[in-house]
Amino acid sequence: MNMLEKLSRHESKLAVVGLGYVGLPLAAAFAEKFQVIGFDMNERKIAAYSQGHDVTAEIGDEALQKSGIDLTADPRRLGEASFIVIAVPTPINGDKTPDLDPVKGASETVGKFLQKGSIVVYESTVYPGVTEDICLPLLEEGSGLRAGRDFKVGYSPERINPGDRHHRLKSITKIVSGMDGESLALHHRAHLSCRLYQGGRGSQAGGKYPAGYQYRLHERAFHGLSPDGH
Ligand SMILES: NC(=O)c1ccc[n+]([C@@H]2O[C@H](COP(=O)([O-])OP(=O)(O)OC[C@H]3O[C@@H](n4cnc5c(N)ncnc54)[C@H](O)[C@@H]3O)[C@@H](O)[C@H]2O)c1
Repeated sequence: MNMLEKLSRHESKLAVVGLGYVGLPLAAAFAEKFQVIGFDMNERKIAAYSQGHDVTAEIGDEALQKSGIDLTADPRRLGEASFIVIAVPTPINGDKTPDLDPVKGASETVGKFLQKGSIVVYESTVYPGVTEDICLPLLEEGSGLRAGRDFKVGYSPERINPGDRHHRLKSITKIVSGMDGESLALHHRAHLSCRLYQGGRGSQAGGKYPAGYQYRLHERAFHGLSPDGH
């Protein structure tokens, strides 16, 4: 039985790391199909979500309460998941360089609890090379496992625009990429099954992860030039 079948039969879990504007809607979408652990290091945020209050206002209190996301601030729970999505912030430093500390911190945490046979997918907006040159070594170091052999890595730029009520997670085509054919196929099928299940527009396999970066770069450049940002 492959990982996706195990996820679908609730014999394995998917975890989302970082439950903000991007991570929370994603966790809720996956939770329609899979058992989802929602992990955030911010205990106050987890407490608010656990009380049914969506502080991002992206999915709303009712949808959050019905979502069934297993909310936690305990990183050890990540050891229960075989599909891990990282959606932590990538703020900009004062000198306009990207602050990679949250992505590095999340990689270290995930690495500590990473199980053999897992896939880790980055959804944070990063520049080309961050996933394979910075994050992947941290996952290997923390877990003692080898990428490619013991676990896989994928990249999928999140394209939602928080607050936009017309172009929602379900209607935006997802671009997925992976370190090899196997991870790409798995990543693609996971998104496809969850989006098609919701009647969404599905996902588009972008090939190896440079394709995912390239797509995002083009898109951001276009947004930068477009007067209304769309
Ligand atoms: N919000 C947007 O408009 C948007 C759109 C597309 C892509 N993105 C990208 O998606 C990523 C996430 O953005 P966001 O707006 O959801 O951020 P956010 O600040 O709303 O949420 C990120 C969450 O991650 C948590 N976090 C930080 N470090 C952590 C760690 N080490 N372990 C666990 N949790 C941790 C924070 O507590 C926070 O709740 C960023 O890279 C951003 O650039 C954002």
